[in-house]
Amino acid sequence: MSYVDAALAPQRKTGQIKLHGSAAFESMRKAGRLAAECLDMLADEVKAGVTTAHIDQLVYEFGMDHRALPATLMYRGYRKSTCTSINHVVCHGIPNDKPLKEGDIVNVDVTFILDGWHGDSSRMYPIGAIPRRAERLIEVTYEAMMRGIAAIRPGGTTGDIGHAIQTLVESQHMSVVRDFCGHGLGRLFHDEPNIVHVGRPGEGIALRPGMFFTVEPMINLGRPHVKVLADGWTAVTRDRSLSAQYEHTVAVTEIGVEIFTLSPKGLGKPQFAAQG
Ligand code: MF3
Ligand code: CO
Ligand code: CO
Repeated sequence: MSYVDAALAPQRKTGQIKLHGSAAFESMRKAGRLAAECLDMLADEVKAGVTTAHIDQLVYEFGMDHRALPATLMYRGYRKSTCTSINHVVCHGIPNDKPLKEGDIVNVDVTFILDGWHGDSSRMYPIGAIPRRAERLIEVTYEAMMRGIAAIRPGGTTGDIGHAIQTLVESQHMSVVRDFCGHGLGRLFHDEPNIVHVGRPGEGIALRPGMFFTVEPMINLGRPHVKVLADGWTAVTRDRSLSAQYEHTVAVTEIGVEIFTLSPKGLGKPQFAAQG
């Protein structure tokens, strides 16, 4: 057992979904805001000619400057501070030395551990002018995440979230990835419950005030099937169609939902360059 394992042993997955109080909400607001501020900072940095390794370095330094640890660093053998997933990469793209180019779409996924609490969020960054179908994919993916979040309320279920996402996406003839899902988080990075991004109303797990989890749908222009490359991490669409993802960390409240990772600068929604 490593040091980290020993430290986390008392809070391992227990089979019981944790219900958090006001002190934990305060901590998650701070961790969530930091992840969102980092994604805001990247808005001017993620552009043609920049490598994903450079983006990773910026995320690492942002964490260090704010007394936060990137949660992915050394997580299950992963060695980077962020995931950068380009075009047909669905998730868990590993930053490397290849420059981004005009027309690419890239998801940057940042998780910080601040004072022991995890804030996990990702956004799409279009590189210059992108094809219209890529813009539509990004818009539908953002809207799907927000409709999933809007379905969250005490007394609702995880199936309500999945149903809201799946209904919108399939009405636009796009597909929801099944192989990865949202997750409970708090002092742990990946905890119960799983938040599956498809479902039926009233099915799944009952939502209760004090639950913390992510909503992070991965949406493909083509078929939903993915495969993981030989590096053990990079997940790509089997049909090589474009894929997009947005992610927020949220809480169930007494009256509905609170989003911990909203952009302080209002940069959370898709933004596109004018077509030239
Ligand atoms: N941040 C990702 C998520 O949304 C997890 C990345 S784990 C890594 O859950 F090891 F691939 F970085
Ligand atoms: Co997540
Ligand atoms: Co994430």
